[in-house]
Amino acid sequence: MNYSNDSRDVAAVTSPGSIGSHSYEPGALRSALDIKQGGTFNLGALLCDRHCAQGRGEHMALIWENHTGLRKSFTFDDLRRHSNAWAHKLAELGVKPGDRVCLFVDRVPDLYFAFLGILKLGAVAQPLFSQFMADALEVRLADADTRAVITTGRHLEKVRSVRARLPALAWVILTDVKSGAHPTLVEGEVVMTAEEAPPVEFTPFPANEDTPSLLHYTSGTTGRPKGAQHVHGSVLSQYATTRHVLDLRPDDVYWCTADPGWVTGTSYGIIGPWAVGATQAIFEAGFSAQRWYEFIARHRVTVFYTAPTAIRMLMKAPPPTPDQLVSLRHMCSVGEPLNPAAVLWAERVMGRPFHDTYWQTETGAIMISNVPGLPIKPGSMGKPVPSIAAAILDQQTFQPIAVPGKVGLIAFRPPWPSMFRGYFKAEKTYQSKFVGDYYLTGDRGSVDRDGYYWFVGRDDDVINTAGHLVGPFEVESALLRHPAVAESAAVSKPDPTYGEVVKAFIVLRPEHAGSDELKLDIMNFVRKHLSPLAMPHAIDFVEKLPKTRSGKIVRRMLRAQEWGEPVGDLSSLDD
Ligand code: WTA
Repeated sequence: MNYSNDSRDVAAVTSPGSIGSHSYEPGALRSALDIKQGGTFNLGALLCDRHCAQGRGEHMALIWENHTGLRKSFTFDDLRRHSNAWAHKLAELGVKPGDRVCLFVDRVPDLYFAFLGILKLGAVAQPLFSQFMADALEVRLADADTRAVITTGRHLEKVRSVRARLPALAWVILTDVKSGAHPTLVEGEVVMTAEEAPPVEFTPFPANEDTPSLLHYTSGTTGRPKGAQHVHGSVLSQYATTRHVLDLRPDDVYWCTADPGWVTGTSYGIIGPWAVGATQAIFEAGFSAQRWYEFIARHRVTVFYTAPTAIRMLMKAPPPTPDQLVSLRHMCSVGEPLNPAAVLWAERVMGRPFHDTYWQTETGAIMISNVPGLPIKPGSMGKPVPSIAAAILDQQTFQPIAVPGKVGLIAFRPPWPSMFRGYFKAEKTYQSKFVGDYYLTGDRGSVDRDGYYWFVGRDDDVINTAGHLVGPFEVESALLRHPAVAESAAVSKPDPTYGEVVKAFIVLRPEHAGSDELKLDIMNFVRKHLSPLAMPHAIDFVEKLPKTRSGKIVRRMLRAQEWGEPVGDLSSLDD
C-alpha cells in the first residue's frame, strides 16, 4: 500500500506535508520509529524494547493509581520484561500469531503488559470495555472466534456464563490470583500475573506494516457490532498525531482518561504516547472532579486528553484550586461534540482551552483537530491534520461540496497508515463505507470559508452517549428478550451531561400494561444483560411504531421528535 502524500486536487483538502518540526511524511515517520520501509518490525517491541535499546529503559513509562489509593510505577524496561512474560505465557498456551486474544479487564497494569505481549507474539488484541455484560461480550467473542480472554475475578462470571457457546475459546486467563477475588478455577482457566512471572526473553514476531494488530468492535445502525481490523503500521499515524496534535514529548506526563476498551484508550492511551516514549499516568477510578484535579497535581500531568461528557461534569463541580493545575500545558478533547461553552469555561477555570479532535474507530487516528497554534473557533473541530484529504460530500451525488457552510457528509480519501483494513468477516459492510474515492464516516458536517470543520450530527441511527457509540439494533435485541416487550425502537435523546442518552419506544405484549415499575424493570434488564451504557434512560410505551410500507421501523422520525426537529411525512415513507 502506498502511504505517500497525495496532492491531487480535491475540495476542502488542507495542507499536506508538515507543520513546524513535525513531519507527516511516511519516510520521516518510519525513520523516527526505526522502521525500515518494507522491512519487519513489531509494534509491541517498538513501544517498549526500542526505548530500552536506546538507553531509556529506566525512563518512567506508567504511573498507575487505583480508587483505593494503591500506586505503582513501571519503567520502559518493566514494560519490556512484563510484556515478554505475557507473550511467553500465551505462546505456551498454544496461542498463535493471528489468533484473537480479548482483553476484558479493568485498567489494571496487566492490561497494558498483556496488550504489548499479545502484539509481540503477533496475535491480535481484542479490547472490550469491562463494563459490558454477558450478551454484549458473547456477540463480540463469537464474531471474532476469540481464542483466549484475559480478565479478572470481578468479570469471570460473565465470561463463564457464555463460554459453553464459544467453541473457539480455549483459555480464560485471570490476572488477579493474589486478590482471592475469584472462586476455584475450572478447566481452561489459568492465572497469570506478569509481576510475579519469572523473567524470560522473547523474540518478537516479525510483523510488517500490514500485519493485523487489533480488532476494535464498534456499533453501526444495523446488525451486530463490527470488528474494525487494524495493523501494526497504524503507529505511523498515531505517532505523528500524538507528537503534533497532542503535542506530546518524551519528557511529558500524559493522562488520557479513555478506557482501552475503546479506540481512544488504545490509539492514544497506549500506542501513541509510548511510541513517543512519554510517561503515562493512569487513574483506575470513577469520576470525581476533586480527585481528578488532585491526580493532575500529584503526578504533575502536563498533557491531558479527555471527553466532553467529563468536561461537562467538571463544569458542574467546584473549580480547582489555583495551584492544582499549574503543570498542565495542553488539553484535548474527543468523542462527541465539544460545546463552545466548555472551551471557554476551560480557558477561564483551567487556564487553557480544550483543543477538539475528531476521528473514529475506523480511522485509527485523529483526522481533524485544533492543533496547537491554530486559532480555535469554539464549536468547530478544527482543520484536517496534514496529509489527510478531507471533504464534505453532497448527500445525493457524493461529490465534494464547494460551498462554505453547506452541510454534507464528512469523508476522507484513503489511504493513511492507521486506516482500518476491513470489518472482520463483514466485507460487504466494509465496502458500503466507500463511495468513489472516499471513505464515508457516517457523520454530517460543514466546512467554513477558513477551512474549519463543524460537526452537525450522525448520518445514521447510532447513539453517542458520553462519547460511547451504542447500536440501536443491539439495544432492541436485548429489549426483545424481556417478556413484556413485543416491539421496540431505540433512538438518541438529548442530554445536558451525556450529550445523548438511549430512549426506547416500546410496544408491549397484549397481556402487559405499562407502569413505572415496568419501565424500571426493563431499564435494569438492559443494564444487566447488555451494558450500563446501553440502558434506556427514558421509555415511552406506544401503541405502534412508525414503519415503512414494507414494515421497517423508522427510527429517524422518533429521533427527530426527541430533538425537536421536523418529523417529516409518514405517509411518504418508503424503504
Ligand atoms: C463522534 C472515537 C463530534 C462521531 C474516537 C464519530 C465526534 C464517532 C468527535 C466515532 C468530535 C468523535 N466531535 N463528534 N470531536 N469525535 N465523534 O468510533 O460521530 O468510538 O463518528 O471513535 O464519535 O466514535 P468512535
